[in-house]
Amino acid sequence: MIEEPFDACISREGTSSVKWDLRQEVFGKRDVLPLWIADMDIRCPQPIIEAFKKRVEHGVFGYTAKMDAFFDAIIGWEKRRHGWEVDKAWINTCPGIVSGINTAIQAFSQPGDKVIIQPPVYHPFYDAVVGNGRQLVFNPLKKESGRFTMDFEDLEKKIDDRTKILILCSPHNPVGRVWTRDELERLAKICLNKGVLILSDEIHQDIVFSPHSHIPLASLTADARGNPLPIGERTITFIAPSKTFNIAGLVTSGVIIPNRRLFAEFEYRIKANGIGIGNAFGVLGLEVAYNEGEEWLNRLLPYLEANIDYTLAFLETQAPQIKCVKPDGTFLLWLDCAGLGKDDSCLRNWFVEKASLGLDAGAVFGPGGEKHMRLNIGCPRSTLAEALNRLKTALSVEKPAREAYFTY
Ligand SMILES: Cc1ncc(COP(=O)(O)O)c(C=O)c1O
Repeated sequence: MIEEPFDACISREGTSSVKWDLRQEVFGKRDVLPLWIADMDIRCPQPIIEAFKKRVEHGVFGYTAKMDAFFDAIIGWEKRRHGWEVDKAWINTCPGIVSGINTAIQAFSQPGDKVIIQPPVYHPFYDAVVGNGRQLVFNPLKKESGRFTMDFEDLEKKIDDRTKILILCSPHNPVGRVWTRDELERLAKICLNKGVLILSDEIHQDIVFSPHSHIPLASLTADARGNPLPIGERTITFIAPSKTFNIAGLVTSGVIIPNRRLFAEFEYRIKANGIGIGNAFGVLGLEVAYNEGEEWLNRLLPYLEANIDYTLAFLETQAPQIKCVKPDGTFLLWLDCAGLGKDDSCLRNWFVEKASLGLDAGAVFGPGGEKHMRLNIGCPRSTLAEALNRLKTALSVEKPAREAYFTY
């Protein structure tokens, strides 16, 4: 039997890890088990490590260009994994996707224009809109039979003459939805009709569990009836190997823009911001990840899904106050903690102080995030087991709300 490499517990302390080395600053406590920010406690694919060793031995780390191999790696990956034929001329780049989204907001809207987001959603979207002096408009997700969906009626009502951009999170962080073709088509039609540009953040595109499959929004050229749907012309797609291969620290992403005019405007802004140059390890990491990382990913996905199933079974039997719907994708679980009877001001602290667990507070993801916590299951199963046992122990010393009242 092949030994499972994802079970290895690797200490990340002392590596300037945001997740581990900033625990004191973020949670006020060093001994929390951190299951927050979205990277994984696992080693990246071995071919990346080998390529880096060779590169380190070379010893010269000067300015680095993105050569044909970089673009070919992106083209090959999108075609093989997502069936999307990307032309080299469409590919631009940015360091992290957050910097790319900020750049696109600057390129494609003016101060005071409106930008729509779909909360609860990845919180740097808020900062990107507000920080650039644009107006934030919410098109909140709805929950139907326990499943999050888009509210298209609300979206149509929210768009007016000042609305220039919608930021789509696909797959969606934190609710874990992988949008269906029908949902993407409906969204595309509304935005095309109303002249709203879509920034499609597809950073989680590769962490998807069967039977779901990720559809790049811009790959939709016709609707289900065969009518033309030129959404690619009105979409800026952000992709990266960072979540997929656990190399977020390499900060290297792709921005796919089929429309020539939009491409040129984005390019101009990237240059103006001085963020177009490559990072020696980021460029190499992306190339090797997309060219040689597929087998590793095919083994990782069942491991992550088993972590999810393990957590859901544990919660159902040992912590039924906390509810969670299985995500279609991502390594993030969206925990509904309303059953704990705590308000948002103390929910995160309860996890820190009583359970010694460092999770993301749902409230930071905006409307709909209240009374939720986000749990990152991208870690060895034993780490997860330790976390869930800490949670169970903390719950066991909690008094049910009524009992607490009577013992006053
Ligand atoms: C939806 C989404 N977009 C972007 C990012 C971060 O991207 P980057 O580190 O490339 O800026 C994350 C990280 O969690 C994310 O979940």
